[in-house]
Amino acid sequence: MAETKNKVLSVNNLEINFKTDNGILKAVRNVSFDLYEGETLCIVGESGSGKSVTSKAIMGILANNAIIQGGNIMYRGENLLEVSEDEFYKIRGHKIGMIFQDPLSSLNPIVKIGRQITEAMMLNNDKLKLMYNDIISDDLIRYKNTLAKMNIAIENETKKTNVRVAELKAQGKRDEIKKAKEDLNKFIKETKNTYQDQAKKYKAVLDETKKKAKEEVKAYKHQVETEHKANVANLKKLHSGAELKEALEKEDIEYQNKIRITKAEAKRRALEIMKEVGIPDPEKRYEQYPFEFSGGMRQRIVIAIALTASPEILICDEPTTALDVTIQAQILELINRIKKERKLSCIFITHDLGVVANMADRVAVMYAGKIVEYGTADEIFYDPRHPYTWALLSSIPDVDSKEKLEAIPGTPPNMIYPPKGDAFADRSRYAMNIDYREQPPFFKVTDTHYAATWLLHENAPKVEMPKIVSERIRISLEGGKQ
Ligand SMILES: Nc1ncnc2c1ncn2[C@@H]1O[C@H](COP(=O)(O)OP(=O)(O)OP(=O)(O)O)[C@@H](O)[C@H]1O
Ligand SMILES: [Mg+2]
Repeated sequence: MAETKNKVLSVNNLEINFKTDNGILKAVRNVSFDLYEGETLCIVGESGSGKSVTSKAIMGILANNAIIQGGNIMYRGENLLEVSEDEFYKIRGHKIGMIFQDPLSSLNPIVKIGRQITEAMMLNNDKLKLMYNDIISDDLIRYKNTLAKMNIAIENETKKTNVRVAELKAQGKRDEIKKAKEDLNKFIKETKNTYQDQAKKYKAVLDETKKKAKEEVKAYKHQVETEHKANVANLKKLHSGAELKEALEKEDIEYQNKIRITKAEAKRRALEIMKEVGIPDPEKRYEQYPFEFSGGMRQRIVIAIALTASPEILICDEPTTALDVTIQAQILELINRIKKERKLSCIFITHDLGVVANMADRVAVMYAGKIVEYGTADEIFYDPRHPYTWALLSSIPDVDSKEKLEAIPGTPPNMIYPPKGDAFADRSRYAMNIDYREQPPFFKVTDTHYAATWLLHENAPKVEMPKIVSERIRISLEGGKQ
C-alpha cells in the first residue's frame, strides 16, 4: 500500500515571500507535501500559483529578494533550507536534479553539447573526495539531523507560544503570558540539553569516522600509486622506444581512471546517457551545438544533463510547455520510462491537469500560493472536492475534439494583497459568505485525500460538481470498466 512507502522528501509549512517595490508578495503560503520513493507527485495550478517558487526552494536557487518566512524541506534527514550548497554536496552529491520549462535557456548556445553534458561530471571528478564523502555521509547526516530536529522542535514550540501569547494578550491575562514564556524557555533549555547530548555523541562518532575515512583514502591512494610505479618499472623492463611510449600512456590512463573521472570516461558516460534519453547517433551529436538540435532533442539533452549526477529526485518544471503536442507526448513518455528504469522519485509541475493523468501517483493542486487539494491521482480525477480542481478539470481540452470546454473566469488575486478567505472565492460560483471571511482549513476526505474548501464543512450546503466534470468522470469510469 502507498502509505508504507518511504518518504524521500517532505515539505512542511513552507512560507516564501518576495520583497518587491510594491510591497511584500506572498508567493508560497503554508505549503506541505510528501514525495514518496519511486512516485511522481504532480503540482498543478495556473500561472503565478507558486509552483516554480516551491521547486526553486527545494533546489536552493530562489531569487535574491526571496524571504523564507518559515517551514522546512526535509531530505534524508536534512532540512535543505538550513544547509549550504557546499554542505549539501559533501553529504551526497547533488541528488536532486531539475529540468526547466525552456530547454534553450538551460543550454549554452556556444558550447558543444558533449561538453555541456560532461561539464557537470568533470566538476566533481575527484574520486578520492567522492570516496571520502561516501564513507562519512551516514554519520554526517545523523549528526546534522539531530541539530535540525532540535531547531525544528524549538521553532514549532516558539510559534505555538507566540500564538498563545497573542491570544492571552487579547484576553488581558498577563500572568499567564509570563507563565507561557517561562514554559517556553524551559522547553528550549530541556530540548537543547537532550539533543545536544545526543549530537555530541554523534559528533564524536563522526570525527572517528572522518579519521578512518582519511586513512582509508590515503591507503587506497598509496596502493594505486605503488601499483602504478611498479607497472611503470615493469613496462620499462619489457619495452622500449615507441612501444614503451604507448604502453606508458595506456598505463597512465588506467592510473588516472583510478583517482579521477577522466575526460575519456566522462565522454563514455555522456554517450551512454545520450543513448538512454533517445538521441540518435550520439557520437556525431556529441560534437554539435544546441542550434543544430530540434526543441524536443534539446529537451532530451537537458534531461541527459540532469541525469549525469545520478539524481534520486527529478524535478520537472513544465518540461513540455514549449513543445508541440506530439513531441510533448514523447518527452512525457521518456520521463516516465527513465523514472521507472532509474527508480527516480519525480516532482512534475504543470498548469495542465490533462498532462498529469498518465504521470501522477499523487497530485497537489495549487492556487494563490496554497495547496487547495491533495490526493492520489485517482482521488483527484474521480473524486475531486475543491471548486478550483473542478474548474481545472472543466478546462482540460476534450481528448476527441481538443476543444477547451470551459475557461476559468476571472484572474488569480494579487498576492501582495492576498484575499482574507478562500482565495478562489471571487472566481467560484460555489462561494459562500464564509469564503470571503475566513480561510478554509484542510478537510480530510480520506487518509490520502485532503481539500481546503468550506464546502466540506459539515454545515455547508450539499452542492454538485459541474456537470461537465461529473459527466467526464462517469464516461471514463465506464470506459475503464469495459
Ligand atoms: N523574484 C521574484 N520577485 C517577486 N515576485 C516573484 C519572484 N519570483 C516569483 N514571484 C512571484 O511569485 C508568484 C509565484 O510565482 P511562480 O513562478 O512560482 O508561479 P508558477 O506557478 O510557477 O507560474 P507559471 O505557471 O507561470 O510558471 C507569482 O506571483 C510571481 O510573480
Ligand atoms: Mg513556473
